[in-house]
Amino acid sequence: MSTTINWAQCHTRPVLMIPGPTELPPPVIQAMTQPPSIQYDRTFDEVVLEPTVLALRNVFQTAGEVILMPGSGRTALEAGAVSVIEPGDRVLVVVAGQFGLLMREIMTRVGAEVTEFTVELGARLDLTRLAAEANRVRPKAITLVHNETSTGTTYAAADVGRIAQGVGALFLLDTVSSVAGIDVRTDEWGVDLNMTGSQKCLAAPLGMSLGAVSDRAWAAMEHRARKSSSLVYDLLRWKEHWIPASRGGKVPDGAPRRQPISIPTHLTAAMHAAVTVILDEGLPHRFARHAAAAAALRAGLDAMGLEMFPDATILSNTVSCVKTPKDVVPAAVVERMRDQYGILIGTGLDTMRTTTLRIGTMGMTASPHYVLPTLSALELALRDLGVKAEPGAGVAAAQAAFANAGPAPAAARPVPAAGRPVPAAARPVPAAGR
Ligand SMILES: Cc1ncc(COP(=O)(O)O)c(C=O)c1O
Repeated sequence: MSTTINWAQCHTRPVLMIPGPTELPPPVIQAMTQPPSIQYDRTFDEVVLEPTVLALRNVFQTAGEVILMPGSGRTALEAGAVSVIEPGDRVLVVVAGQFGLLMREIMTRVGAEVTEFTVELGARLDLTRLAAEANRVRPKAITLVHNETSTGTTYAAADVGRIAQGVGALFLLDTVSSVAGIDVRTDEWGVDLNMTGSQKCLAAPLGMSLGAVSDRAWAAMEHRARKSSSLVYDLLRWKEHWIPASRGGKVPDGAPRRQPISIPTHLTAAMHAAVTVILDEGLPHRFARHAAAAAALRAGLDAMGLEMFPDATILSNTVSCVKTPKDVVPAAVVERMRDQYGILIGTGLDTMRTTTLRIGTMGMTASPHYVLPTLSALELALRDLGVKAEPGAGVAAAQAAFANAGPAPAAARPVPAAGRPVPAAARPVPAAGR
């Protein structure tokens, strides 16, 4: 009797090639398996939280403050909105996909007078038209999703930052699927609120929300007519409760900070490990790696006869959105890849759910180690679903692309030799509770 082999059977979980949450580096997993510490303990503050927040400034490429709070990408977006926008403020929202729509909804709920600047799905952003619209509306803030995860596109944030500065508007940038995978220059681009979540290219567990705040954004909060309606997510309260006086906050230097929300200690330790991994690699190397991995993935998809969804000039290096062959249902491909080959990719979102697939190259997964098996599983799954294709064509094209990838910037620190123990994440010594 013949049996069909299920290749996913021997794995306890699928490999995460969705556009986040993504795979976690071993030091990050290790940090999650330590005994608990106490969130208000001074040692936690000094040994874990503060070094993490300071290191995150390098990742965000800012000299300003990075606020780390429990939540996800949406928490950062909402905290930013509820902190700087007052009811009746004009906000120009660039909507180029599902996450632009999310921003529109958040702004509407905080009472902003929203003007939507609509970009066709997968199409380029017309900067001349946007500049004209910014001039007409004269908004308090312009918002952009840097990397639109729903369509696999990256937009010219530096240019939009210039437009915002030209009309004296704050520039609020969603970098949920770009930061630590694609170059994001918070200060250089004039980003006033750079808002993201932990589970994508930062390669930390889901559960933390991050925001870098400019001096202009702090000033906007300080000059509000009324206090923010949110106690917990008011960033000004965060400034007062946990930023030392020498850095512009209200906490006397050397005094323990108060926590506007109890900070999840395990998730902070994991973030500390994740940031250490990122800075050990070095940002230039990391961005080059994501670019090369995404290019190899696209070369593989192209060799399989699959067409990318977006305009070829704005393809994302962290999320690839590809059209499925005619008569192939994306959900069936996802199911087959997961259940038979142990690799999880995503379908498109909303109106693109029935026509596209999305594959993440984020953090660890931006490498041949993950991209080649994903293409291989996709080829097998499509073949199982009746698509006629030459087996191995996609994998071969991606391998060639990896082989021919140009020289990358040197990594900041060399890869540890095999067998060397991975250093445990910094662990605070608990002190007596309050
Ligand atoms: C661009 C973008 N913005 C916002 C979000 C929402 O983030 P979260 O799911 O972490 O709340 C996502 C999630 O995928 C995203 O990709």
